[in-house]
Amino acid sequence: MKIAIIGTGYVGLPTGVGLAELGNEVVCVDKSEDKINALNSGKLTIYEDGLAELFAKNVQNGRIKFTTQMKDAVPQADVVMIAVGTPPHPFTKEADMQYIHAAAYELAEYLSGYTVVATKSTVPVGTGDDVEAIIAKTNPTADFDVISLPEFLREGFAIHDFFNPDRIVIGTNSDKARNVMKKLYQPFENKTKFLFVKRRSSETIKYASNAFLAMKIHYINEMANFCEKSGADIREVAQGMGLDSRIGNKFLNPGPGYGGSCFPKDTNAMAQMAKKYGVHLNLIETTIAKNDQRKAEMAERILSHLSDRKNGRVAVLGLAFKGGTDDCRESPAMDIVRDMLKVNRNICVYDPKALENARKLLIENVDYASNPYEACKDAEVIAVLTEWEDFKNLDFVKLKREVLNPCIVDLRNIINQKQAEENGFEYYCIGQIAQN
Ligand code: UDX
Repeated sequence: MKIAIIGTGYVGLPTGVGLAELGNEVVCVDKSEDKINALNSGKLTIYEDGLAELFAKNVQNGRIKFTTQMKDAVPQADVVMIAVGTPPHPFTKEADMQYIHAAAYELAEYLSGYTVVATKSTVPVGTGDDVEAIIAKTNPTADFDVISLPEFLREGFAIHDFFNPDRIVIGTNSDKARNVMKKLYQPFENKTKFLFVKRRSSETIKYASNAFLAMKIHYINEMANFCEKSGADIREVAQGMGLDSRIGNKFLNPGPGYGGSCFPKDTNAMAQMAKKYGVHLNLIETTIAKNDQRKAEMAERILSHLSDRKNGRVAVLGLAFKGGTDDCRESPAMDIVRDMLKVNRNICVYDPKALENARKLLIENVDYASNPYEACKDAEVIAVLTEWEDFKNLDFVKLKREVLNPCIVDLRNIINQKQAEENGFEYYCIGQIAQN
């Protein structure tokens, strides 16, 4: 089939490459000339595991193309997917719809023949109605259906998730659109569950899922707080809970709070959207407030291990919002560093992939190291803030030679506690009473 994808970010690009790999003819559109020039010269604009190989292959066989012009992509398309950003409004925290609306106005002009317009971006309930109205007004003779097609791709695993979806949710009442989508996703027919629902249900499923996962993280973080006082061990508690198939063993890792470009944005947008309907989503509102508070508490926890809160040296290992990505947007690690900087200007940071992005997001007044050992030089406390594989295999003998005081605060529970302690480190993790 012929597909146009509007927006080449973390959703649009992996989706476009995935659809091309399935044999479709894909044209990706983006307003940014820099991005399109880079993609046209064979350079990827985001990092995703496994993307580079599929991108190169499908560029070479001509199944994926890139343009800044809707007119080169939309007229021939059977399906147009809108995958532009819906960033949070800086004051209201609602999803900012300007890019969705602009895309709808522009694509409307070029629709030709029956076309399914699918919203892939995470959008408030009722956006499908708005997009439909915009297209109908701009191009009254257009033959189209607007559907909701939420994405559930995790950053760092987007290609894996594209080819192994837990479910494909399609929100539409139109049989014609349903048949087009069945054909497009036919390769997944025996692999996953298809859910055909009302457009508004589909729009809600995305927010409700992300908000639930955020609450699950908040819940395990609260249980970790309880374990720290009661003498239980959160690792054992999470394991025991996770064996109940109704609970499931995923998303039960306690940490410094959730972050990234989705959970903070989507929980806020969901809470704001509900208020418009006169509904208070108390659980979600509490999750948002407590997740923010947690980062400040974690900064305090790290500083409490210094002999002098103002001047003691802190080593920070990890700045990305989770392991496996270079993305620092809404990263708890970045917030924790910013919070510590309010009292302490003696911080050295290291991350295997995210240093460049961290610099762009302006962490000033910190030292940047090029490896974990350099970051730990003269440190009184080492704070592990992102769950990178590299940090699981630190050489404690080497590390001990660098530090001023051997103390690790592991906010991701990934360090080998036994080894650390055998090498003379004090070790503090989440959800366990300290043994020292
Ligand atoms: C998320 C959703 O998982 C995905 O389905 C959606 O479409 C996009 O948003 P992503 O933002 O890539 O994906 O990150 P995810 O892996 O879900 O992690 C989000 C945050 O939660 C990270 O900061 C992570 O460290 C934290 N987290 C996750 C925990 O603290 N504990 C956990 O057990 C799981």
